[in-house]
Formats: sequence, C-alpha cells, structure tokens
Amino acid sequence: MSVPVLTIDGPSGAGKGTVSRAVAKKLGWNYLDSGSIYRSLAIASIKQNADLDSPSEVVKVAESLHLEFECGDELIVKLEGEDITSQLGSEQTGSVASKIAAIPEVRLVLLQKQKDFKQFPGLVADGRDMGTVVFPDAKYKVYLTASAGERAERRYKQLIEKGIDVNLQKIREEIEERDRRDSERETAPLAMAADAFYIDSSDLTLDAVIQEVLNLVR
Ligand code: C5P
Repeated sequence: MSVPVLTIDGPSGAGKGTVSRAVAKKLGWNYLDSGSIYRSLAIASIKQNADLDSPSEVVKVAESLHLEFECGDELIVKLEGEDITSQLGSEQTGSVASKIAAIPEVRLVLLQKQKDFKQFPGLVADGRDMGTVVFPDAKYKVYLTASAGERAERRYKQLIEKGIDVNLQKIREEIEERDRRDSERETAPLAMAADAFYIDSSDLTLDAVIQEVLNLVR
C-alpha cells in the first residue's frame, strides 16, 4: 500500500503552515514544512559565510546540511544540533531562502531530503512545488492562496504579537517581491498543479479552511 500524501502549495503568508500542521495533527500524519528546509539552508549559508551569489558555494552548504525536526505543537528545527527555530521566521531569512531556492542545483540536492518525509501513515507536505515537483503523484493536492493585502496584514499581526516592530507597507512589498521571485524562477516555480484543489482563504476563517482540506481527504 502506498503512503497517502496531501500537498499544500501556495504563496507566502497564505496560511499553509498553520493549516498543514492542524490537518496533519487531525489525521495523525507526518508533516513536512519544506520552506523550513530552505530557510535552514539560508541560515547555514550565512553562518558559513558562503557567497549567496555563488551557486557552487551554496550547493556545498546544502550537501552537508544536517537538520533534525521535532514535531510537537510547534515545529522545532535543529541545525548541527543547535536549535534555530527562533531564527527561521524572520523576513530576512525568508528573503535569503527565496534567493537561494532559485538555484536549480540547490533544489536538486534538497529533493531527496524532502521525499524522505513520505512515511506511514501519511504525509502533509507544505511548500511551493510539493504537488508539481516533489510529490507529483500525491493523492490529494491543495493550492492555498489569499490576496497580497490580506497576507501582508496577517503577517503583520503575527509579528506585532511577537513584539517585533514592523511596517505594514514594507511587509506587503517584501511579500510581493518574494511572490514575484518564487513565481518567475525557471526551476520549480510557484504554480498550481493541474489536479490541485484551489482555495482562496482571503475571506475564510482558519477553521473553515482546515475543514475544507479535511473534507477533501475524508
Ligand atoms: O514557505 P516559506 O515562506 O517558509 O518558504 C521560504 C522560501 O523558501 C520561499 O519564499 C521559497 O522561495 C522557498 N521555498 C521553495 N520551495 C518550497 C518551499 C519554500 O522554493 N517547496
């Protein structure tokens, strides 16, 4: 029997992480936050002073990337044994991640690491290319999006709640810049799989989105 996979792709800030974690918990399935792999690589590259404009230097960091994931209520990520969870969420990490994620050789190195998450009883995989490239045969596919304004607002609220002082307009610009980079890159761009179920969460509550995704699987 093959392992059932549910892919949830979409632009940053659409709520993929929260929805994926909630659905994985309900189903009792494993969870892959593929963005955190790219974000961890960004952190490792900066720590190792790699030249971010040099694909071969970033590939070298990717090849020796040693990550551990602990999935509890919150996802804990360790890089070479060091807990880097608190550094993962920043916009700077996200921007560097999206820059190095555009390097095709980097994506190739990280491909198997992501496929390894496919284990019984099932997997919820969240990212940009889960349904198109990493798990094209997934049984269930969702494309979750929301308007750029709504995504910026949600992100703004999250950061303010964490006590981080941010500017809404700047966040919106960063989100739009990241959307553009993720959608226009040549390798594995952000795109909806032809067989994906489309959800626009702009006017939906979190619970309603989770329910819609669960209905799809059940
Ligand atoms: O989803 P998250 O915002 O954590 O992802 C950070 C960046 O990593 C994205 O902007 C994107 O460039 C990259 N990424 C990717 N493919 C994925 C997941 C994330 O290219 N499957």
